[in-house]
Amino acid sequence: MKSFVWHPNTQMKEWDSFTKIVKAKGMWLTDSDGNNLLDGVASMWCNVWGHSKPELINAITKQSKKIQHTSMFNLTNAPTEELAANLIKISPRMHRVFYSDNGSSAMEIAFKMGLQYWNNIGEKKKTKIMALEKGYHGDTFGSMAVGYVPEFFNKFKNQLFSTIQIPVPNKYKIPKGYSYQDYQNFCIDKIENIFSKDEKIAMFVMESGAQVAGGVNIFPEGFQRKISKLCKKYDVLLVLDEIATGFGRLGSMVQYTEQRSIPDIVAYGKMLTGGYLTMAATLTSKKIYKSFLGEFNDRKHLFHGHTFTGNPLSAAVANENLKLYQKYNLIKKIKKTSKIFEEYYEKILELKIVGDVRHKGMLMGIELVKNKQSKIPIHPKKSINKIFFEEGKKQGIYLRTLGNIVMIVPPLAISENELNMLLSRTIETIESAQNQVV
Ligand SMILES: Cc1ncc(COP(=O)(O)O)c(C=O)c1O
Repeated sequence: MKSFVWHPNTQMKEWDSFTKIVKAKGMWLTDSDGNNLLDGVASMWCNVWGHSKPELINAITKQSKKIQHTSMFNLTNAPTEELAANLIKISPRMHRVFYSDNGSSAMEIAFKMGLQYWNNIGEKKKTKIMALEKGYHGDTFGSMAVGYVPEFFNKFKNQLFSTIQIPVPNKYKIPKGYSYQDYQNFCIDKIENIFSKDEKIAMFVMESGAQVAGGVNIFPEGFQRKISKLCKKYDVLLVLDEIATGFGRLGSMVQYTEQRSIPDIVAYGKMLTGGYLTMAATLTSKKIYKSFLGEFNDRKHLFHGHTFTGNPLSAAVANENLKLYQKYNLIKKIKKTSKIFEEYYEKILELKIVGDVRHKGMLMGIELVKNKQSKIPIHPKKSINKIFFEEGKKQGIYLRTLGNIVMIVPPLAISENELNMLLSRTIETIESAQNQVV
């Protein structure tokens, strides 16, 4: 259909019409022509239970009859209070929850909290932010500055505040002359070197467990823990972004516990509401929170708030979502379902244009190359995303690629049958697309 909407991250000239989704049930989206598409990207990595889950719909309906929205300015409400308590319960060492309505904002809040913490305690020199290259933290200005993915954001480079970007080990792309282990040591040494010389470093920001949008780069064992230890040693705050990787995506409810790295600030989003309504949360330790307490005229409080901060409908569905994680033992189920990805690993890697396959939990990235030796990315005239969307649609799956990476990010509760279907249809999609892309 013709669209008056300017679609996200889209070359609008390339799309003269868009597939219109008219309903969705379980793992399937149905378009206006009656085609069914298996949701291979969990509707932008956030859907947990599939679509139209009765318990989640009921939670929204029930809450909508009481109060749909009331602000958190001077007021509170039951679902947001209950959710904050629930989030604190699952997040070791976290003490308070600040709400927002999308992941980019949750990260902006994290940066503001981290910077102001040092100001509040009188350490005014500590103003610099360090982060990992290829990290992604959202599309707002602060998030672009910290999560600077050059391919996405180089047009704004001059307007972004400066950050210190640290190289990150990616097993598939280790610079010449290094082993994987050597390169990990190189990155860690670089961090320590800067921490030990520069007292102005306020915080280290990274995605927890893996970089997703920056190329599905799963961190090597111990990498995050080492950074966390360095942060403690040199008195630098650790800010973790679990927006895409927490809540089971990588196989654990909270990724930082699996990584044995305790943050000072952590952000959740995406799957928080099961993918039904918009909400994100920034959690902080007691140390950070306490530094914001004082007399009103000390002006130590956090100057941040959004219209829909702590929306009760979103909170109600998030509470129900968390209940369902328990009721259906989702994390245990994921551990079993995610093994299916491994069965397809070799088959995918053998495909002519596949250079590498990376997988953890319910996330897989398939890197497409022109030539397996040179590892040069495929670079067709038309966008890779459009080609794969169209070919995927013919196979009955909904795919969205990121650069030259096919992302497989299904709803977490996908059945084993449906995951098998998604993966085998992805192989067929790559096979049918390969002649168009090389
Ligand atoms: C790790 C990470 N952080 C932050 C964001 C931004 O979240 P949102 O798109 O809700 O603003 C994303 C979105 O993909 C993400 O993957």
